[in-house]
Amino acid sequence: MSDNTSTSTPAHSHGHGHHHHHHPGTGSGHGHNFANMAEANKHHYDQHVDDFDTFPHAKTRAQRSALAMREAVSLSKDSSTVLEFACGTGLVCMEMLPHVKEIVGIDISPVVVERCNKKFKEAGANENCYAIAANISTDKDVLADKKFDLVYCASAYHHFDSPEEITKLLGAFLKPGGSLIVIDNLQKGGETIDQEHRLYITRYGFNEEDTKGLFASAGLEFASYAQIPSDPEGDNDIFLAKATKST
Ligand SMILES: C[S@@+](CC[C@H](N)C(=O)[O-])C[C@H]1O[C@@H](n2cnc3c(N)ncnc32)[C@H](O)[C@@H]1O
Repeated sequence: MSDNTSTSTPAHSHGHGHHHHHHPGTGSGHGHNFANMAEANKHHYDQHVDDFDTFPHAKTRAQRSALAMREAVSLSKDSSTVLEFACGTGLVCMEMLPHVKEIVGIDISPVVVERCNKKFKEAGANENCYAIAANISTDKDVLADKKFDLVYCASAYHHFDSPEEITKLLGAFLKPGGSLIVIDNLQKGGETIDQEHRLYITRYGFNEEDTKGLFASAGLEFASYAQIPSDPEGDNDIFLAKATKST
């Protein structure tokens, strides 16, 4: 999550866990030709699961994200059901866990999912809290007809080939009146990403208009877009955008 953005250029982006590394062995042209970004992400995160716990701003980013979500939607320990899409090792899941009844995580990488389930177990979470490895674009009925009060995706939208498609798929997991929250890098101007990150990242971030477009094309009602209070220790500026599904 976050990264060491260089001072001379706003060109570093990326979610956490891939900052100081160069990966000459990944990507097309080096023996790997991934059919899509989902497969490239699976490959990358399967090999970099430990980065989640070691990256300096990862835990504080998770805390800031969870706090902002709890301010944006009202959650109940007795009733709220939550889906985290692209949950990684569950840094944000663990921050949400004390405030909800059920939380399900999905991620493309089986290795990070296993780590996430280990954390649920260690936290003493109930059997309704778990993570699964799946590609929701192709595994259509992975959660059958399960519907949630809150679906969120944190620090992952900039990894997707088609944020439009993902937003539509995520909207289908909402109960009527439920909320979709997207947290990602705040795009201010022409920030771009480094070549080395293009293997598994598609863009720097999103501005308010971008999120309005995504929500509209998924048939959801735009509710808000706001910057999440900055990390004093210096992390990317991130936003929280919220949409609701009509009742
Ligand atoms: C920067 S990490 C963020 C993880 C977590 N949300 C957090 O905040 O700690 C990005 C995650 O997105 C996942 N991911 C990327 N593309 C995906 C896709 N198409 N479907 C599901 N997960 C995906 C990666 O495997 C990785 O775990």
